Amino acid sequence: MCGIVGYVGRERCVEVLMEGLKNLEYRGYDSAGLALQLEDGIEPLKRVGPLVNLAGAVGDLGGRNGDFFRVRAGVGHTRWATHGRPNEANAHPLLGGEGGRVAVVHNGIIENHARLRRELEARGRVFRSETDTEVIAHLLAERIEEHGESLREALACCVRQIEGSFAVAAVSAEEPETIVAARHQSPLVVGLGEGENFLASAVQALLTETRRFLVVENGEIVELSAEGVAVSTLDGEEVRRGACEVDWDAEAVELGVYEDYMLKEIHEQPAALRKTLEGRITTEGEVDLSADLPEPFIEGLREIERVVVLGCGTAYHAGLVGKHALEKLCRVPVEVAVSSEYRYREPIGDGKTLVVAISQSGETTDTLAAVEAAREYGGRVLAVTNTRGSLITREAEAVLLTKAGPEVGVAATKTFTTQLAALKLLALQLAHLKGLRSAEELLEIGEALRLVPEKVEHAIELSGDATRTAAQAFEAARCALYLGRGVSYPVALEGALKLKEISYLPAEGYPAGEMKHGPIALIDESCPVVAVLGEGLLREKTLSNVQETAARGGRIVPVAVEGDASASEVADHVLWAPEVPELLWPLVASVPLQLLAYHVAKGRGLDVDKPRNLAKSVTVE
Ligand code: F6R
Repeated sequence: MCGIVGYVGRERCVEVLMEGLKNLEYRGYDSAGLALQLEDGIEPLKRVGPLVNLAGAVGDLGGRNGDFFRVRAGVGHTRWATHGRPNEANAHPLLGGEGGRVAVVHNGIIENHARLRRELEARGRVFRSETDTEVIAHLLAERIEEHGESLREALACCVRQIEGSFAVAAVSAEEPETIVAARHQSPLVVGLGEGENFLASAVQALLTETRRFLVVENGEIVELSAEGVAVSTLDGEEVRRGACEVDWDAEAVELGVYEDYMLKEIHEQPAALRKTLEGRITTEGEVDLSADLPEPFIEGLREIERVVVLGCGTAYHAGLVGKHALEKLCRVPVEVAVSSEYRYREPIGDGKTLVVAISQSGETTDTLAAVEAAREYGGRVLAVTNTRGSLITREAEAVLLTKAGPEVGVAATKTFTTQLAALKLLALQLAHLKGLRSAEELLEIGEALRLVPEKVEHAIELSGDATRTAAQAFEAARCALYLGRGVSYPVALEGALKLKEISYLPAEGYPAGEMKHGPIALIDESCPVVAVLGEGLLREKTLSNVQETAARGGRIVPVAVEGDASASEVADHVLWAPEVPELLWPLVASVPLQLLAYHVAKGRGLDVDKPRNLAKSVTVE
């Protein structure tokens, strides 16, 4: 939630900050702003609404004042509002000091802001916004003006006083071409250049500029100038840390031929799955995660008696899918929990509990807190994340990366299917170590998993026109029901989440067998029913629930295995997915549901990449 960016170096500050904000807009789009260091002070520029509004203002101002594009240092922000409505006063940067000589951008929440505000007001500081962030601007200004401190010293003092989560960057008119920044629980990276340096909430903001990054740790202050980056502790002791290189391409955050990131990312799934499986599964289908997981962790897996899977939203749904494979292949009890509930539950576990924490961003506050709760009872934590170096990777004992590349669309698509693939790899690895399944059986599933990228490619081909046509059934809909049983149930949950988050249509995912216990009352011609069928006995049972629904006037949209004649009998438009072993069905069945949600939302003229009220990284409770 909220993205921050900073630049110092050449006369291209505005251009770099705007490009960085564009690549961080997925983190929030309630307002956006810049604070630029001009010769005679700091120029703030803010606009409510998406970044295009700020871009318009930048164009106007730049047209009037040529110096504007020669600025060498500044910070920028894209906001997901927590404290205070999305208006210009509450947009960042927030200013402090005489004539606004200090400017601050912030991602996170300052929990003790009310007390700090009262104290600052009592000391004569005048607040102009309803935000929690403004206390930082005033604390900095106070230390500089009344104690003669440098911006670095002032920030160190401020960090000692504020509580909560934050990544904060500040500029001061007294220290031209210098940015200082600090973080606690919210992400912050420094990008290294030649004669210029960068700062951002996430590496994808800066991929067009650099691949060399420093990760800033809690309790550190970074000071950026054109010549270099100094990292120190709050006490001012120098910290030496090597840079790391990231292997993501700048094109990964470009739209290319696609109209929207969501559509692009749906089409990137075969490649993302290939990368996620590569090097972890042999051509014979044998899974080997020894290059990813430390030896002692792998050895410890043999002793595992129970698995807990943690996640929020889509990641939670991935966990529900993972439970099927883990229980079936490894014969261990698996509990899947929503992180925000788990963290407050005084959960039960021990050193024989494997805790799989799923988070594409690796920054979700609730999942990080749930991991902490699991670590307290000695759980062995494995993080499944798409973000190398993210907060969760530092909390976990081992990490299994999904290799989907950056996902810009707010609705998770390729990160969901790669999470499913990672969980299948884990289940196969654990099953092999536990030795409860025959080698042949595991090799057979492994071999099918290796071929999943091609199957997903085929699912995309099958779904294009079919989902566009099926979306018409939703034109006059007032709600939708998604049904499934077994592995198809979490697929239905995820399909319903995709529809509601981007089309704003109320949609419920339900176990098909629960229909008669309540939801069937919703059925009429304005409530389409998406039935995820799949294969086997459960398919027959879901089909009979579907027939009951059809008998009550419901419009049915089945998701069925390619060529399933009985699916065609219950509906005019079937969404087909290729045949795969049952455990892998969620990987292919999710594709038509992603595209269905996409076409319904597009048909309603909505912005699928930036649905209202949402942000991609949820770094607050
Ligand atoms: C929905 C979606 C969210 C995330 C959830 C967890 O499309 O993207 O439900 O899955 O906010 O995020 P991560 O995986 O980053 O922890």
